[in-house]
Amino acid sequence: MEYKCCPHIRNGLNFTRTGLRFCNKLSASGQDSIVNYEKGFYDKFKTIKHTIIENCRNGQIPDYCKGCIYLQEKDWDKIDEGKINNVEIFHWNQCNCACVYCGNRNETHLKITEKKSKSEFVDLYKILKSFIKEGYFAQNVNVSFVGGEPTLLKEFNDILKLFMKQNYKMHILTNGILYEKLFAKSLKINKENYMTISLDCGCSETFKKLKKVDKFDDVIKNIKRYIKDSKENSKNLIIKYILIESLNDNEEEIIKWLELCKNLGVGTLHPTIEFCHSVSNLNKIGPSDRICKLYNFMKEKIKEYGFILNTYDFVEVIVKTKKYR
Ligand SMILES: C[S@@+](CC[C@H](N)C(=O)[O-])C[C@H]1O[C@@H](n2cnc3c(N)ncnc32)[C@H](O)[C@@H]1O
Repeated sequence: MEYKCCPHIRNGLNFTRTGLRFCNKLSASGQDSIVNYEKGFYDKFKTIKHTIIENCRNGQIPDYCKGCIYLQEKDWDKIDEGKINNVEIFHWNQCNCACVYCGNRNETHLKITEKKSKSEFVDLYKILKSFIKEGYFAQNVNVSFVGGEPTLLKEFNDILKLFMKQNYKMHILTNGILYEKLFAKSLKINKENYMTISLDCGCSETFKKLKKVDKFDDVIKNIKRYIKDSKENSKNLIIKYILIESLNDNEEEIIKWLELCKNLGVGTLHPTIEFCHSVSNLNKIGPSDRICKLYNFMKEKIKEYGFILNTYDFVEVIVKTKKYR
């Protein structure tokens, strides 16, 4: 039987600071944790998930998923809903910079932290260990770290080692201000692992305006080290540029970023637009023509320079339709 559902509802898991939900996709705005971390939380989650899937079968999509591009009409019952194959780790939000566009700023209030610490919310290492022991994750699971800055999270390396031991496919998102040997190792040992650094500019002046810290040179130094230390998989280090109105949304800065990445020997670039807090998003009026044009300009230039182009499929849809959802 064909019906509308989504791979994240069926096989996704997002570990938030308070509990579990399906995903952290664009559609997740408004999706709170479905269950909190308390006794028997995963059994409760599975029961609720089962009801939600049953509702989808009857044509009732959860409100927080309406309009999401990941919804598809197909014979979902052919896919086992039991094993988790997409995991997002989002149980902390400490960061050593304060990006003006930060998707977590409602919680962090853009507070800058230098000190390494544990998540003050939950001991996720313990939970993940028990999930692996119980066999809740599929063999080919994809894990991404979408919380605050991973180099500041005390238990991060333990979690990473736990996943590396299972040979899970991982994507680490970092600002690159601090170098972490284990990240380079994770890239080196598995050609399906990725790391993304949000550089968002081509010079230190713009960096300071965007991130509120004077750390551009540290990031550049660390990009060089990651490229060197990840050896033949260095193309899996992705350098990102989020277009931010009135800050880095001009061709001159984009060219500086391209030239810098070329000189550093970066292999893969990721252009994107801001999609969490922009006035146009909050007012549901879509990104401006100028931003969409610049996004397409970046894509063309990235190809022209000979980099590998990496994009989010939902950003492609936003730019094409000029609508956030
Ligand atoms: C919340 S950040 C945290 C990870 C890490 N500290 C970093 O700087 O990459 C996770 C990812 O979300 C992206 N991001 C954050 N806010 C965003 C926004 N408003 N629009 C688009 N991407 C955003 C960042 O570029 C980063 O790749």
